[in-house]
Amino acid sequence: MVRRKARAPSMRSDALTDGQTDMISLEAAIEQVAAEIDAEFDRLLPVPDDARAPLFQAMRYAAIGGGKRLRPLLLIATAGIFHVDRDTAIRVAAAVEAIHVYSLVHDDLPCMDDDDMRRGKPTTHKAFGDATAVLAGDSLHALAFEILASPGTHADPFVRSELIATLAIASGPDGMAGGQMMDLEAEKTTFDLPTITRLQALKTGALIAASVEMGAILGHVPIEGRTHLRGYARDVGLAFQIVDDIMDVEGDEALAGKALNKDAEAGKETFVSLMGLDRAKQQAAMLVDQSLSHLAGYGSEADLLRAIAQFVLERDR
Ligand code: IPE
Ligand code: IPE
Ligand code: MG
Ligand code: MG
Ligand code: MG
Repeated sequence: MVRRKARAPSMRSDALTDGQTDMISLEAAIEQVAAEIDAEFDRLLPVPDDARAPLFQAMRYAAIGGGKRLRPLLLIATAGIFHVDRDTAIRVAAAVEAIHVYSLVHDDLPCMDDDDMRRGKPTTHKAFGDATAVLAGDSLHALAFEILASPGTHADPFVRSELIATLAIASGPDGMAGGQMMDLEAEKTTFDLPTITRLQALKTGALIAASVEMGAILGHVPIEGRTHLRGYARDVGLAFQIVDDIMDVEGDEALAGKALNKDAEAGKETFVSLMGLDRAKQQAAMLVDQSLSHLAGYGSEADLLRAIAQFVLERDR
């Protein structure tokens, strides 16, 4: 399982472990994680010399090069607090990113949001056709669990099964897919603020929360020791989605790498439509402050998580 090409030499550096808070070191951490995740997908997805080649090419097209890699960053930053082996954290982070990328490929399909641009290039179905894009999404979904089930990822079967269960719940009807269903319904119904909050907690929050949780699982943190990390992840996840909604209204398409103004066009209720821009901005800032307060018991080892929370608020992409 998950054999494929030999691993490239590790690109380990100290950028993620020094606990620096400034945005320059965060930028370095983002770049480093992006390169490591690209290398992992490159290793996992060699294109076979047979009729499946377009499927692998579409998976590579969707997964390699692009995106903020926020979920891998959260997972690796959390794992870093507990001194988890970096290569292990990267593999597990690639599993979470595979689910995220699959969700984007399917989200962009004509039967969903019907989008032409993603991460600054044509969407996967625009480049490869709808049917191949569906299969690429399916296969990225399967790849995530193949990675987590592999003894090469983690030697302890109890850790592997907890990782698998966490990611499965966060991806399915009680997580991302459930939120996507509610999101489709939001085009037809008017949801109130608590319902929109639940929608977003599932659609976006679940995978963000799973990223932090899986870092804690790798760190052998017992359930009762995860309360503050869970509080952090919940607040960051909600702030992230509020900022996504704000960017949809006043963001820059070139920076975002995707079409904006989609929510209003679709008549979709969002945090911004319900609260207005000013209150949405205040709410996002309040949530990020609150997320930081959950980390009060940690020292500089959690500085990268702190910097990520700030980035979520200030990002323009
Ligand atoms: C976009 O996620 C979809 C949402 C969940 C709002 P990101 O903004 O994390 O997209 P990438 O990974 O950076 O492309
Ligand atoms: C997509 O949400 C979220 C998932 C793929 C789970 P959106 O439809 O708001 O994301 P963008 O704006 O297309 O990136
Ligand atoms: Mg959508
Ligand atoms: Mg969309
Ligand atoms: Mg959006």
